Amino acid sequence: MKIIAGNWKMNGTRSGLESMVRDLETVDTENQVILCVPFTMLGVRSDKVALGGQDVSEQAKGAFTGEVAASMIADTGAKYVIVGHSECRQYHNETNNTVRNKASQALANGLIPIICVGETMEEKQAGKTMAVIESGVRESIPSDVSTDIIVAYEPRWAIGAGLTPTESEIAEAHTLIAKTLADMGLGGTPVLYGASVKGSNAAEIMSIPNVDGVLVGGASLKSDDFIPIITSVK
Ligand code: 13P
Repeated sequence: MKIIAGNWKMNGTRSGLESMVRDLETVDTENQVILCVPFTMLGVRSDKVALGGQDVSEQAKGAFTGEVAASMIADTGAKYVIVGHSECRQYHNETNNTVRNKASQALANGLIPIICVGETMEEKQAGKTMAVIESGVRESIPSDVSTDIIVAYEPRWAIGAGLTPTESEIAEAHTLIAKTLADMGLGGTPVLYGASVKGSNAAEIMSIPNVDGVLVGGASLKSDDFIPIITSVK
């Protein structure tokens, strides 16, 4: 069983989501399918497809205009929330500390956080990939985790750029993440790979050791692109 998660980013409509959920419900798969969509689309019901948000406030409630609390996301029936996505780290200057606070809010409200880590092009070129990944995992995960979490490795330089790391780069990153999680007492935590996943490379990527699924951006927006990813693995 793999986890196939879509991240719609700031795309789509509610009727488009309803129609995709109907399409996905016809797919014969044992994989866990998740769609992380804009807040305004949460609340669409499905027995087979779980929904998630794409960000969450660090705060529990109160005078924080424009922010959405984890309790509110949970109230829609959503089960997941992405935290620390590279675009939030980049455009909102999120640090590992911010991401950890957001993950804590998610966990306190019964949501499973999908905690993203990954290196920028600058960090990659400076030879800091492994250090950035390890500190991302150690610093972005709350210390008192007692329920499920998901980690996603997203090489930030590859996202939306049509670039993919080599198989050995993905293997090296995922092995480090799995070892770090085990060292933190979180062995068995699923680790997703995300950046430029499509139908044509999904099976190969998910055959790499310690890759427990994928987090898919652009190719999760249309059923015709997303379904082949879901059915690419058993
Ligand atoms: P792309 O699949 O469009 O590269 O996006 C990856 C991503 O950011 C998923 O969260």
